Amino acid sequence: MPKKRLMSGMRPTGKLHIGHYLGALGNWKKLQDEYECFYSIVDWHALTTGYRQTEEIPENIREMALDWLSCGIDPAKSTIYIQSHIPQIAELHLLLSMIVPTAWLERVPTYKEQLQELLKQRLNERLDSAANILEDREVREEAAKRKEMEYLATYGFLGYPLLQTADILSVKGEIVPVGQDQLPHLEFAREVVRRFHFIFQKNIFPEPESLLSEAPFVPGTDGRKMSKSYNNGIFISDPPEEIQKKVKQTVTDPQKIRRGDPGRPEICNIFFYHRFFSSESLVKETETNCKNGSLGCVDCKKNLAQVLSDKLAPIREKREDLLKNPGTISEILETGAAEARKTARQTLEEIKTAAHQH
Ligand code: TRP
Repeated sequence: MPKKRLMSGMRPTGKLHIGHYLGALGNWKKLQDEYECFYSIVDWHALTTGYRQTEEIPENIREMALDWLSCGIDPAKSTIYIQSHIPQIAELHLLLSMIVPTAWLERVPTYKEQLQELLKQRLNERLDSAANILEDREVREEAAKRKEMEYLATYGFLGYPLLQTADILSVKGEIVPVGQDQLPHLEFAREVVRRFHFIFQKNIFPEPESLLSEAPFVPGTDGRKMSKSYNNGIFISDPPEEIQKKVKQTVTDPQKIRRGDPGRPEICNIFFYHRFFSSESLVKETETNCKNGSLGCVDCKKNLAQVLSDKLAPIREKREDLLKNPGTISEILETGAAEARKTARQTLEEIKTAAHQH
């Protein structure tokens, strides 16, 4: 039996942290043996909200490719490419846009939520940076709001889920590993497939199924969700000194102040990492000795920093190797793009035939 096609993507946000590894990348790596995988760095998606800050995108793409490759996403097994290298995705997005009711896009739950969330963020930044005169704050807030809304509520942003659909359909993806937050986008993609088949009376695409990657809540060094925007991440590429520093800063059980105080591993961020990265015996030992107080946080952190450094060492080495031959990454991405273009071209041929565009 031929392997099923799998497609997934990440926006190029720069260096990945261990939350990405536990939530997605580790999973992607395993899936490579079971499926024919297409993994895409979706740089057009980054533009949907970030079209005014594009300087960092090329560097972010590079960092992301480096992280993927060093974590074991393997070009011998998977097709790895940058979305914007595949013009057929844009063409498909355009053709599909003709048949998708705008109401479908407007009711995707992530649309309004994200718009409000982004609006709040940007407004805070804007209002914080201006000297505030109390009386006209309200007036200025209203004006700022209108202006920001114009920047945010673009045609491209509304079309985000359709662009994602085009990513998947361009290679006829059947399986799409994603987190919980992406389920509405997958539901949307399936609706688009059904509409296409209904309108042109020809079945071309599989209805893409989500494969929920169990994304655990990964706390950052401050206990909030690990996220680039909170600046609380431990990066996959962090060297041992950096790991040590970050682990040292990580918030533990506030009731455990000194060695001897009994701790509560179940609420401790450090113990959270232990459970994911340490050996079973170290996890057990840590739990027992934290609870009975014989293990202090300083030593517990030392153990964890060691484990993390060891775990990430092979990844770091791979990264350094890749950096020694900077041409390798571009080559891999070029080869991947050629492969993805070939597949997407075939898909578009079928679509154009079905839609009488020949
Ligand atoms: N929207 C996805 C996210 O934010 C990224 C993405 C873009 C994607 N295109 C995709 C995921 C295609 C899966 C398949 O996580």
